[in-house]
Amino acid sequence: LRHLITLQNLNAATLVHLLDRAEALRVASAHGTRKLDLLHGRTVLNLFFEASTRTRTSFELAARRLDADVVNFDIANSSTNKGETLLDTLHTLEAMHLDALIVRHREGGTPDFMVRHAASGVSVINAGDGHHAHPTQGLLDALTVRQHRRNFDALTVTICGDVLHSRVARSDVHAFSTLGVRELRLCGPRALLPGAEEFPGCVLGDDFDAMVAGSDVVIMLRLQKERMIATLLPDEDAYFARYGLTSARLKRAAPGALVLHPGPINRGIEIASEVADGVQSRILEQVANGVFVRMAVLAELLAR
Ligand code: CP
Repeated sequence: LRHLITLQNLNAATLVHLLDRAEALRVASAHGTRKLDLLHGRTVLNLFFEASTRTRTSFELAARRLDADVVNFDIANSSTNKGETLLDTLHTLEAMHLDALIVRHREGGTPDFMVRHAASGVSVINAGDGHHAHPTQGLLDALTVRQHRRNFDALTVTICGDVLHSRVARSDVHAFSTLGVRELRLCGPRALLPGAEEFPGCVLGDDFDAMVAGSDVVIMLRLQKERMIATLLPDEDAYFARYGLTSARLKRAAPGALVLHPGPINRGIEIASEVADGVQSRILEQVANGVFVRMAVLAELLAR
């Protein structure tokens, strides 16, 4: 791998290799090996044009734990505000001899654009572009599930919420379908579901009570208000009544079903606090796994 833009074209062997590498890093960390020198002398730049807590922090921690030099580009105080174009920004930063650019942008396709225009030695990692892809989130979700359920082919995975605007849903679908889950269900209000042609092989529906029934994994999504035209925004109380994951609704899933959410969570809109903080919630495990997945990706792309 030179770049990581999407999981769409990665085969199962590549996904499993990345998950195995992340798991090995997690186990090593649990046994006290938190720092490695695999990226000593390498320089990684976090270039986040959209807000982030989990992804940006975990990429920074991951790079530091591999002994890379890390720069967090401060967009708010950068010359982007003086009108510098994305391409000029890219070439300016590259002139400082970077090894990797980790980019998040509201426009889908921005990481691809950077691959096309970046110097040949620079790796580009997509940290989320529009509603297109969030590949490291797909990987960390798969790792979290695999830590609890060994056989993907025995699993029904339901993703519920604002699927239309969700890059997480798309990367999760790519990861879980390639890893061979038995059934993938996508649920949400009709207005927030994409066309079935985008997700061949998935079951789409708007009845969450029916879709959650028997699910082994339930992945809840945030309403992406920042990507929505106002007319799509549902009434939050009505939305919670039909699509919120409550304890009562979770009882319809398979016993001990895993509850995931990429965060940030909207308590009382897509998930009840009793579920987000409950025994079936794996949300903070997802966050912890994010560091190991990002270490694995950085090591895979950059280690000599
Ligand atoms: N899951 C995720 O991308 O979270 P952040 O927006 O906080 O990075």
